[in-house]
Amino acid sequence: MKAIISSEYGGPDTLQFNEIEKPKPLDHQVLVKIHAASINYGNMLLLQGNPLIARLVFGVRKPKYPIPGGDMAGTVEAVGENITQFQPGDEVFGDLSGSGWGAFAEYAAVPEEAIVRKPHNLSFEEAAAVPMAAVTALQAIRNKGKLEPGQKVLVHGGSGGVGLFAVQIAKALGAEVTAVVSTRNVDLVQSIGADHIIDYTKADFAERDQNYDLILGVNGSRSISTYKRKLNNGGIYVNVGGGDSQLLQTILLGPLLFLGRSKKMSLFLQRANQKDLEFLRELIEEGKVKAIIDKTFKLSEAPEAYRYFEEEHLQGKVVLLV
Ligand SMILES: NC(=O)c1ccc[n+]([C@@H]2O[C@H](COP(=O)([O-])OP(=O)(O)OC[C@H]3O[C@@H](n4cnc5c(N)ncnc54)[C@H](OP(=O)(O)O)[C@@H]3O)[C@@H](O)[C@H]2O)c1
Repeated sequence: MKAIISSEYGGPDTLQFNEIEKPKPLDHQVLVKIHAASINYGNMLLLQGNPLIARLVFGVRKPKYPIPGGDMAGTVEAVGENITQFQPGDEVFGDLSGSGWGAFAEYAAVPEEAIVRKPHNLSFEEAAAVPMAAVTALQAIRNKGKLEPGQKVLVHGGSGGVGLFAVQIAKALGAEVTAVVSTRNVDLVQSIGADHIIDYTKADFAERDQNYDLILGVNGSRSISTYKRKLNNGGIYVNVGGGDSQLLQTILLGPLLFLGRSKKMSLFLQRANQKDLEFLRELIEEGKVKAIIDKTFKLSEAPEAYRYFEEEHLQGKVVLLV
């Protein structure tokens, strides 16, 4: 089969498009013929081995997972003896980042916990755009943010891969959602249901007379004290992403700044989870959440796709067609 191989840490040019042996499913595995896969921030860590601490997980001297790729959608081709949830012909999608990666290839042998049935109203291409980014948004909003219906949510960075899902999921869970984006994305976030939109090139959310019950720092580019100031009493700030200085501030200053009970903060690391993906499939099939794709590339064009992911201000996900 054809696959993208990553045999050393570096930039997108280290990726090779090679012919390798097709995997055979073990007793506890499902063999999936992959139709589409997508790129996430986790792929950049795996590609570059940077920050260095990531190498404790991904391999010290070289990547220990030779085929990168977490998110994918495809058709079950064969199942191992112990598989109970799936059979050949089932259309599935999932996130392989918790089970050895391997999605940038024509086939992957995966544990059944890594996949769920594909939403019937999404193409393979759209389904591949969902898992990691949408599960990140869901876990940040529901598990860490403890969102309740009627609460006011600010999504700081509402139009990237994670942000677009965050806006839609917060709406689906009953929140009043404000999205912070630049001018070119105002219409896009309005079309997916944001109640209020702040164009950060024209206005500053921190200067407005409005506080929030939950702030998601997706592009968490402001100081942690600004986020705290803009929380209502009882509110929660969840650091999803942003620059290194915000991360350091959150780790080092956060516990001190948020001492006491009135406002809380949470650092957050997404984990692939089958139940969460099932939950998202329901929201998608109910028409409450949709996948937005910025651009598609062929599998053989993975280096170009990585470069595009790294360099552009994305409006949705970058998808590889296998
Ligand atoms: N914690 C976890 O487990 C986890 C998992 C996955 C990802 N992440 C993190 O989540 C982040 C990914 O988010 P993403 O893919 O949605 O996109 P992103 O590229 O980090 O951010 C894009 C969004 O931020 C907006 N933005 C850019 N500059 C801004 C500014 N100065 N002020 C306010 N908003 C600004 C963009 O708007 P315009 O495009 O309109 O400029 C867009 O809406 C990354 O930092 C990643 O590391 C974390």
